[in-house]
Amino acid sequence: MKQNWKPGTLVYPVPAVLVTVGNDESEYNVLTIAWTGTICSDPAMCYISVRPERHSYPILKKNREFVINLTTEKMAYATDWCGVRSGKNFNKFKEMNLTLGKSHVVKAPYIKESPLCIECRVKEIIPLGTHDMFIAEVVNILADEQYINEKTGAFDLEKAKPLTYSHGKYYGLGEFIGKYGWSVQRKTK
Ligand SMILES: Cc1cc2nc3c(=O)[nH]c(=O)nc-3n(C[C@H](O)[C@H](O)[C@H](O)COP(=O)(O)O)c2cc1C
Repeated sequence: MKQNWKPGTLVYPVPAVLVTVGNDESEYNVLTIAWTGTICSDPAMCYISVRPERHSYPILKKNREFVINLTTEKMAYATDWCGVRSGKNFNKFKEMNLTLGKSHVVKAPYIKESPLCIECRVKEIIPLGTHDMFIAEVVNILADEQYINEKTGAFDLEKAKPLTYSHGKYYGLGEFIGKYGWSVQRKTK
């Protein structure tokens, strides 16, 4: 039997990413975002949803650029901290020992400790209610070489131990179950 619940945000698990913003040092800031995802393959596009009261919001709105920095188990503490402290009161990069790098295309910086940094340029801002959705095109990816498989050239994100977020709690990835399409593959003896 299922119970009827009132509408709520229960699509979990999701990533908890660190989004970096700012055109120059005076603006640089980072905030944790769980409302994020891919929305188109070609052109590669993603979104973040941000509440207007965040310190990062006017910076994002003015510059229309940001970087999605994927997070790892090692970065879990910083990811939580950057999501409960505001850039209004803290230099979060300094407090959490996050190292900034100069992005390739956008002015917002990237976080060196992140395995994969996705440079984004905003195409549209849609006010939805509590959050505004920033729909963006991916304009460059910065992939940490230490996770690139030398033989295949593939990016081994599992090696970086990505962080996930579900119902208010952080987790690592679970056990490997199967790869894309394995459900219909012919079984070999
Ligand atoms: C796990 C986690 C996920 C979060 N996801 C979002 C989100 O998707 N959108 C948002 O506006 N705030 C989100 N927050 C809250 C902001 O990260 C938080 O308010 C932060 O302090 C804002 O920083 P700022 O004021 O420096 O911009 C999240 C916080 C945590 C801990």
